[in-house]
Amino acid sequence: MARKKLIAGNWKMNGLLADGVELAKGVAAEVKAMGKPECEFLVCPPFTLLTSVKKALRGAKVALGAQDAHFNTKGAHTGDISPEMLKDVGCQYVILGHSERRADHGESSELVNKKAVAAHQAGLKTVICIGETLAERDSGKTIDVCSKQIMGSVPDDSTAADTVIAYEPVWAIGTGKTPTANDVEEVHAAVRKVLAKKLGKGNANKMRILYGGSVKPGNAKEFLSLPDVDGALIGGASLKVADFMAIAKNSGC
Ligand code: PGA
Repeated sequence: MARKKLIAGNWKMNGLLADGVELAKGVAAEVKAMGKPECEFLVCPPFTLLTSVKKALRGAKVALGAQDAHFNTKGAHTGDISPEMLKDVGCQYVILGHSERRADHGESSELVNKKAVAAHQAGLKTVICIGETLAERDSGKTIDVCSKQIMGSVPDDSTAADTVIAYEPVWAIGTGKTPTANDVEEVHAAVRKVLAKKLGKGNANKMRILYGGSVKPGNAKEFLSLPDVDGALIGGASLKVADFMAIAKNSGC
């Protein structure tokens, strides 16, 4: 089953206008220079940069995504952004349920599910994040935690066309620590089994499962050559054109 790898940059709360545009232009130029890359590219800047990054990406095969969305289309939700608004400024994707949002904003899997339903209705593809804490890993609960997050966060009618999963062990994010390749493959294979139970085998076999957490040019190949790893969600290293592109190139894109 050929799944096109997705190389996704999660810029988090980084970038003022000038640096964001420069970064996007750099990525766009490199992706254009690749001709027909084997992978799909995605960048997810903060809300404030979406419109300018969209312009900077013009003509390059790099999709635009946001890092969160509300579950309503509009209304009295001060400070929130709806999926329709994201679609309106040219987003194709939205990241949902990142561990930083689960931790900083108390987002539950139920809430992530509601947001994903709304995002799909608005025509956005979702990147739904899951992953265990260090304490959960140390007590042998990794697969159990990830399975529950999948069951809770992924809408029942999700398909491989509108949903991407990102497995990001919380303790590996921004720390320079990573699980072993064996550990990553074990979780991804288990996640695919849970997806098969929830969404059917056809969807599960086609759905992309990204690995995220301290992905760098030096370790990308090891993770992205695993059978059930279909790309990467990259934080820190997505803020430098050279590192982001090296991850892609080292992963056979
Ligand atoms: P990192 O972040 O690459 O900086 O570890 C990954 C993420 O949180 O998506």
